[in-house]
Amino acid sequence: MSEKKQQVSRRQFLNYTLTGVGGFMAAGMLVPMLRMAVDPVLQPSTAGDYANVGLSVDDITDTPQRVDWKVDQVDGWYESKVSRSAWVFKDDKNEILALSPVCTHLGCVVSWEGSDNYPNEFFCPCHNGRYEKDGTNIPGTPPLAPLHVYDQKVENGILYLGDAKPR
Ligand code: FES
Repeated sequence: MSEKKQQVSRRQFLNYTLTGVGGFMAAGMLVPMLRMAVDPVLQPSTAGDYANVGLSVDDITDTPQRVDWKVDQVDGWYESKVSRSAWVFKDDKNEILALSPVCTHLGCVVSWEGSDNYPNEFFCPCHNGRYEKDGTNIPGTPPLAPLHVYDQKVENGILYLGDAKPR
């Protein structure tokens, strides 16, 4: 029985060493890059969350009132507070309606009775856009779609709003 002696040449030793060191360095660079690329996908989404807008249901009347609140927004690694607004009131059926103030024409902000010429309507000053009280766009004015409506829920008599969605 012969014992085969393995000899490593200087060239092989250098090849193994350089390949090992090169691979280690490449992994050191690639792992953080992969983590950066994948990490936002792994974060839990905040979509569908509801925020306490600080308004008691008892204080909601049939006259639209503007409420403002802030939500946490995560954009990749950048976290910030984002302002949100809504026009909140009780409709003819005594149900709460929370309308987005963002004009569906080009995104300006609408106001309730924002023009003396158009009482009992939402008015957009940018291009004289007009909406009925329920948020329906008035034909013949620039907006071609109604105001978006916020998802909502009531807990312990307090209004919570989620995302504004088109109807
Ligand atoms: S942005 Fe509101 S009417 Fe144009």
